[in-house]
Amino acid sequence: MPHRWPPVSSKCSHLLHGGDYNPDQWTRTPEVWDQDMRLMKLAGCNAVSVGIFAWSSLEPREGQYEFGWLDAILDKLAANGVSAILATPSGGKPTWMARAYPEIRRMQADGQRQQPGGRHNHCRSSPLYRQKCQQINRKLAERYGRHPALILWHVSNEYNNGDCFCDGCLAAFRDFLRQRYHNDLDQLNHAYWSAFWSHHFPDWESITPVDRSLHGLMLDWERFKTRQVIDFFKAETVPLRELTPDIPVTTNFMNNHAMLDWWAFAKAVDVVAWDSYPAWHETGDDVAVAAGTALLHDQCRSMKGGRPFILMESVPSIPTRGRIKKRKEPGMHRLSSVQAIAHGSDSVLYFQWRKGRGGLEKFHGAVVDHAGHEQTREFREVAEVGALLARLDGVVGTSIQPQVALIQDWENEWALREGASVYLGENIKYRQECQAHYQPFWATGVAVDVIDQTADLAKYRLVTLPLSYLLRNGFAEKLRAFVAQGGTAVMTCFSGLVDESDLCLLGGAPGHGLREVFGVWEEETQNFFPHEKVGVACVNGNPLKLTGTYPAVDICSVIHPQGAQTLAVYKDQYFAGTPAVTGHAFGQGKAYYLAARLGMDFLLPFYRRLCADLALPKAIPADLPAGTTAQLRTDGHTDFLFLSNFNKTPAVVPLDRPYTDALTGETVTGRITLERYGVRILKRNGPASE
Ligand code: GLA
Ligand code: ZN
Repeated sequence: MPHRWPPVSSKCSHLLHGGDYNPDQWTRTPEVWDQDMRLMKLAGCNAVSVGIFAWSSLEPREGQYEFGWLDAILDKLAANGVSAILATPSGGKPTWMARAYPEIRRMQADGQRQQPGGRHNHCRSSPLYRQKCQQINRKLAERYGRHPALILWHVSNEYNNGDCFCDGCLAAFRDFLRQRYHNDLDQLNHAYWSAFWSHHFPDWESITPVDRSLHGLMLDWERFKTRQVIDFFKAETVPLRELTPDIPVTTNFMNNHAMLDWWAFAKAVDVVAWDSYPAWHETGDDVAVAAGTALLHDQCRSMKGGRPFILMESVPSIPTRGRIKKRKEPGMHRLSSVQAIAHGSDSVLYFQWRKGRGGLEKFHGAVVDHAGHEQTREFREVAEVGALLARLDGVVGTSIQPQVALIQDWENEWALREGASVYLGENIKYRQECQAHYQPFWATGVAVDVIDQTADLAKYRLVTLPLSYLLRNGFAEKLRAFVAQGGTAVMTCFSGLVDESDLCLLGGAPGHGLREVFGVWEEETQNFFPHEKVGVACVNGNPLKLTGTYPAVDICSVIHPQGAQTLAVYKDQYFAGTPAVTGHAFGQGKAYYLAARLGMDFLLPFYRRLCADLALPKAIPADLPAGTTAQLRTDGHTDFLFLSNFNKTPAVVPLDRPYTDALTGETVTGRITLERYGVRILKRNGPASE
């Protein structure tokens, strides 16, 4: 049932608005701190993340602490009604520490330690670094644990999967393997297929993760790094959990990269937070960027069973990445900020509050520019979002409960990158494929959870699992039960090829019993260059009532129905006339196999038909104009409807009933026009959305 989740902190029941705040860079000019407080009020900021890279300001020399500046800042924040998301500083090692203790620096494959400097590059196994982190974290928790401004711990920053090949990491890796393979080296050698090129491992000590020719080994190395990062994170939180059990703990994920298994990491945090930097205006297709970003927001919400997440970083204007860096055009800041809320964020936070005078990020977008005042477009647009969020207290904690799930799995992605690239090369495009199977729902206003193969499928009615090359243990059985019990599944070519060790499954794909579920055997997959033509034509009178011919791209498989019905066939290539899309009744459910990689022109009508057949709930009944979306958050009593237009031209959305504009209170009915990059937030009271 729809319900309301508690706010991230009982101390603040508003949507959070603010960002990364680095007053430690301005200790020589503390008058700037007072300007910050004035400007935060003007911008409608109610929360800032402090101290993320402040270790050398907190402990300038070993064992000598300087908390005066942070005392002053936290007091000022509290006095001004701004909450503090207090960071632990492990993301950036102080220079004195990196020089005094080389063991905290990562070791490269050539056996050299990295130089001091940079960030996010500490060894995760170093007992000394863990101890140093715990010491400083304990000091922070002792000193600020009961500070009225403190609402949340921001542990470290953007943990990554960088390699460290030091003895400590290798020993920990071998322990991890001993556990995983129950101390049985034969099992490990089998899983790695190590007879290949004579790589048989005679003992645990000879296992080093530097040889990319063994895919199973590389997969385990990725698994280990996730495990080790979570272990490190947990070590960091020991003093926080002990001294401040009431203050929730998070860290900012980067789930736009298949680095760590963020799904596994999510279990260790109290609330999921992530940093979102979409490539607005960079690709020529803001609509696709919007759908891709929506997918990632949905993923963050799904990681904690639907609990609202925190948008921890976003850029008010111009990022520092991208080949050609684009400022957000007028309207995009408001639209992209509301997008996060529409998909389940309870915050809009930025990197960064104020531009520093020096360093790599001195030109990175910020609420406060070097001009130092509020008369900038950047500031005005942020202040506009601040004023808007302040009117949406009712949204805090509202939920989204999709009946559709997209499976985007990290272990599968790692395996595709390592193990499948030898077959598909550049045609893998896993993230694009996932987005292609997400966008039709987004464009229809049907809510989607984005889950991995470990998630429970029982609460969904439709599950789509593009390019599911690797099947994790137990997943195929779960999917089979899901379909048998009435669920609808959609899978695409090159799925069900390998097991958790990236060992090819024998007997024909898709393996692990999925041939029976989908009623097809996939014999071979062909790769295509962009100039090659492959048409896919819908079969007359097919039960989905699909018509027309559509271009397939990149990869197509030759499949043989084994019980499935052919819905579309290939028109070109040596496999012309054979099935490209099939449907199979299995148990009480249906299983569709898309042997060709098809684009939105096919996927939109295909999924719209499935949604209609299953009568899946839509945010509004009407078909939405291209480039727009409608998302709904509800507590079961009040529905908040978010209508967004990612087009550069206006779009008209027809409403089926009257709503109230959540910002102005006016009644809204009939056809409403969303301007270029426009957004409307409407609400209505009543029973839970139908
Ligand atoms: C990341 C980091 C921030 C900052 C921004 C710049 O998200 O967490 O410290 O470097 O990128 O885009
Ligand atoms: Zn190490």
